[in-house]
Amino acid sequence: MKILITAGPTHERIDSVRFISNYSTGKMGFALAEVCASRGYNVVLIAGPVQQQIAHSNVKRIDVESAQEMYTAVMENYPTCDGAILCAAVADFTPTTVASHKLKRGTDHLILELKPTQDIAATVGKLKSNKQFLVGFALETNNEEANAVEKMRRKNFDFIVLNSLNDKNAGFGYDTNKITIFDAHGSKTAFPLKDKKMVAEDIINHLENNLLCR
Ligand code: C5P
Repeated sequence: MKILITAGPTHERIDSVRFISNYSTGKMGFALAEVCASRGYNVVLIAGPVQQQIAHSNVKRIDVESAQEMYTAVMENYPTCDGAILCAAVADFTPTTVASHKLKRGTDHLILELKPTQDIAATVGKLKSNKQFLVGFALETNNEEANAVEKMRRKNFDFIVLNSLNDKNAGFGYDTNKITIFDAHGSKTAFPLKDKKMVAEDIINHLENNLLCR
């Protein structure tokens, strides 16, 4: 069994020294990779720029920088995997042009033009065979539940893990997380605030009990 996991943020270059990104640290994705590897699964971990380390012989780590690089790495690896857990906080927009030199300070406003990135999850959702599974994440600031369920349907996930931003100590950068899992069959499972390693155990238990036993 080989599982692809994406983790961390992406960096979208503005010029030779600057980029646009988000607060993702990769902690949740790396915790998922640790749990999968320690249960004997082979893991292809596609990581954006993060400080996390992982040393397990079952893990093949591929480091990428941008959403485009992550897209390419996922497309190359997903066909030979039994499924994927897409945990990365991929940039939704990227600059239309990258300046080859450091942009100089001026008195005028600087207007950046951004174009949408390719949606890795939606593309994988279309490629998914009936032998493969796909798990996604959602971080919502409003209408959390309805948006997460709509996202699961649109991207063809088997289940979606909703991270709550309304809970103190949950989400970006924290060591703890509070999740709710929504299934394509309509079930909803809420978990209490836990260490991300324990959250990863809950997610992989859910995967094993609901998808891998098919
Ligand atoms: O639409 P949104 O970005 O909120 O969806 C989140 C889910 O989609 C996560 O599983 C994330 O890893 C994935 N995603 C992706 N490629 C993108 C944007 C999001 O795989 N360009």
